[in-house]
Amino acid sequence: MGNIILTGDRPTGKLHIGHYVGSLKARVAMQNQGDYDNFFLMIADAQALTDNADNPDKIRESVKEVMLDYLAVGLDPKKVTFFIQSMIPALPELTMYYMNLVSYNRVLRNPTVKTEISTKNFGKGVPIGFINYPVSQAADITAFKANLIPVGEDQEPMLEQTREIVRSFNRIYKTDTLVECKAVLPENEACFRLPGTDGNEKMSKSIGNCIYLSDDEKTIKKKINNIVSFPREINEPGILENNVIFTYLDAFVTDDSFKEFYPEFQNLDELKDAYKKGGIGDGRVKKFLFDVINKELTPIRERREEFAKTADVMKILKEGTIAANKAAESTLLEVKKAMKIDYFD
Ligand code: TRP
Repeated sequence: MGNIILTGDRPTGKLHIGHYVGSLKARVAMQNQGDYDNFFLMIADAQALTDNADNPDKIRESVKEVMLDYLAVGLDPKKVTFFIQSMIPALPELTMYYMNLVSYNRVLRNPTVKTEISTKNFGKGVPIGFINYPVSQAADITAFKANLIPVGEDQEPMLEQTREIVRSFNRIYKTDTLVECKAVLPENEACFRLPGTDGNEKMSKSIGNCIYLSDDEKTIKKKINNIVSFPREINEPGILENNVIFTYLDAFVTDDSFKEFYPEFQNLDELKDAYKKGGIGDGRVKKFLFDVINKELTPIRERREEFAKTADVMKILKEGTIAANKAAESTLLEVKKAMKIDYFD
């Protein structure tokens, strides 16, 4: 069997450049290579509700925004099946059965969940649904028999847990129904996790330190100018460690960017060397970063504006959801048969 690609994002706001370099770019490349039988792209609204139960309007609005972001970066409904997680009833049903295969301690050990719990400020305690979301993510992936999962690097623990569930299920029920998956990560490690413009480890809507794919030129310029940098005299040596401007450059520039916007240098190594020696002000480097990012985001922003006027995003999602439901239903039947709960068949 050929490849089945599946991935998704929580609709908690518009997508930002961290999503873009962390995974969206790789998804577009995979779509264009076309080496797959099916490519499913899920808007994970049910997962978003695990820590936003009291904010349904935000989630509902964000579904459309995320879909526009997908179209804007070049993902194409002719090649990709877009769907909404909560509209696939097989997913919570599979989750229910998989929950029996995962211990309480195992879910609590998931490092991504642990970090999220420590940063999310769950006032009244952590919802069970939140703790359990890695198990429901295993349902998302296995329902479609997906083997390739283009995601950000923070999702690796979810995929590890999914593989464990797949192995347990296939062993216990003596079947090969479920398929093992692997992550497809960006080639360039600088893209793994972009810090926020404030220097925070993570770019995150709730912290307000993001550059969005939909930001206009002026906003991008302002955000880049406000990136934290180390105060120094221009002739003093520049510091590269934890320097957000250079982390972004690492993720975005190519040698062509230099030809076009900074011809004094041929590539990023040369610029870094010169910066370390001193004599290059942060203002100049920020200007370069703006030129590079703006060049990459301008066509995305323009397409987004166009799609916002012309595309019927709910129709795209509805058609995709119908197709996705068929695929997930058929896996669910196999799962129930393997579990001997197919009483009336
Ligand atoms: N956890 C992912 C995120 O936070 C979203 C997601 C839900 C997902 N289900 C998935 C990603 C299945 C890949 C595969 O962005």
